[in-house]
Amino acid sequence: MARIAIVTGGTRGIGEAISLALQAAGATVVANYGGDDRKAAEFTERTGIVSKKWNVADHQACLDAVGAIEAAHGAVDIVVNNAGITRDGTILKMTYEMWREVLDVNLGGCFNMAKASFPGMRTRKFGRIVNIGSINGQAGQYGQVNYAAAKAGIHGFTKALAQEGARFNVTCNAIAPGYIDTDMVAAVPADVLDKIVAKIPAGRLGQASEIARGVVFLTSDDAAFVTGSTLTINGGQYMH
Ligand code: CAA
Repeated sequence: MARIAIVTGGTRGIGEAISLALQAAGATVVANYGGDDRKAAEFTERTGIVSKKWNVADHQACLDAVGAIEAAHGAVDIVVNNAGITRDGTILKMTYEMWREVLDVNLGGCFNMAKASFPGMRTRKFGRIVNIGSINGQAGQYGQVNYAAAKAGIHGFTKALAQEGARFNVTCNAIAPGYIDTDMVAAVPADVLDKIVAKIPAGRLGQASEIARGVVFLTSDDAAFVTGSTLTINGGQYMH
């Protein structure tokens, strides 16, 4: 039977590539999105993948959404916590709201989705949770104390939940992407981005599909013994 997968932020950017790759691997995918109804409708029409709107920072909304998805499609086997936002600025300019929003979506979203899906996975003795971290959670990044803290938090969260799930065949892993060719990275000022790309040994931005292939492996039956790991995919920019 097809595995049921939820990909948060799954209609655009890296999330879109993950949704498509899991679909190609045989899963029934529900792609969560937070804002853009038009892009989500276009995505669903183009791919046949169901899209469903809720805010991953909203704890109750995550519980309700997972409940509704399980009622409609069956037990959730795979959760990919990909939804993420940036609110960049040096700490002098960063407001408390910019800090809070990024922590609540990027890190809070992982907790909320795990809280909603882990109990069922544990009972059924199968689950795959993949959290999308970042090179900037490993190395830090000027202008991103909020994002770097949230992403570093994801890496710690992953290792802790992996320990809780291991006995129940519920794995929890992270991927730490480098700079990937998405709208999020395109929003970095061009002169700043040029300097960043110049320091990537591979000499280019990554492709979203290159992250998605990692997710397919980590969610596969073959990866049963892989848990608590971080798969770094960054063109050699930072070696952790
Ligand atoms: N190291 C040291 N100094 C730096 C620096 C760096 N990396 N970047 C900028 N500075 C310095 C500047 O030279 C400048 O110094 P002076 O005032 O002496 O000239 C000072 O810091 C202020 O810089 P800015 O004028 O650029 O400040 P700003 O407030 O306008 O912008 C910023 C700051 C928002 C951080 C901007 O530089 C920026 O957007 N940087 C990119 C941040 C980034 O990489 N974000 C990643 C987004 S993608 C993502 O997050 C996905 C992922 O997982 C990889």
